[in-house]
Amino acid sequence: MKIFLDTANLESIRKFNDMGLLDGITTNPSLMSKEGGNPKDAMEEITKIIKGDVSLEVISTEYSGMMEEGKRLRQYGKNVVVKVPMTPDGLKACKSLSSEDILVNVTLIFSANQALLAAKAGAKYVSPFIGRLDDIGQDGMHLIKEIKEIFSNYDFDTQILVASVRHPLHVIDAAKIGADVVTLPPAVLDKMMLHPLTKIGLENFLADWDNLKSGNPDIKI
Ligand code: G3P
Repeated sequence: MKIFLDTANLESIRKFNDMGLLDGITTNPSLMSKEGGNPKDAMEEITKIIKGDVSLEVISTEYSGMMEEGKRLRQYGKNVVVKVPMTPDGLKACKSLSSEDILVNVTLIFSANQALLAAKAGAKYVSPFIGRLDDIGQDGMHLIKEIKEIFSNYDFDTQILVASVRHPLHVIDAAKIGADVVTLPPAVLDKMMLHPLTKIGLENFLADWDNLKSGNPDIKI
């Protein structure tokens, strides 16, 4: 399963990229707004740092605006995937951009039918928002299972990009289902690395080493 980071924060992107964990990045207008400043600078920098796919989202809600913005966003790098909303105009833009070899991520997916239509329109990724479904008392992970089952019945190239991930258990469940990608907020990726027994184990190793050294101060590894 590929791991994308769901952020426009350059410090987090560099941090996890240096660990070799990142296959790509997803952004959206809310994430850009959270960072402040000029989003153009962030988009330029992110597409330089990351070799994998970087999703940059259009703001327009009608077809011609999406096409214009999509082509402009694509100028930031060959690894740019244009993110369009799951609307009739978004699907039309998905079809047109894909025909021009511009990869598309259809976002704000909340049903299996929406995912099916986005795949038919040529999307490289569909982004189901599981946390937001959980928030309203629906089972977000069930949607991932449904989309996985439907896509595996046919010959779609579209990948399932699990979005709106809120905690590490979401990641394990998505991986068990066989989702292609999860996009993670930095805080979730941080939590995935931690386990209290790892921390205690390391503290014990170091304490034992100090004991050994106290009898033989010249010891080195
Ligand atoms: O990738 C989509 C994601 O940013 C939405 O997450 O937590 O706002 O539902 P959230």
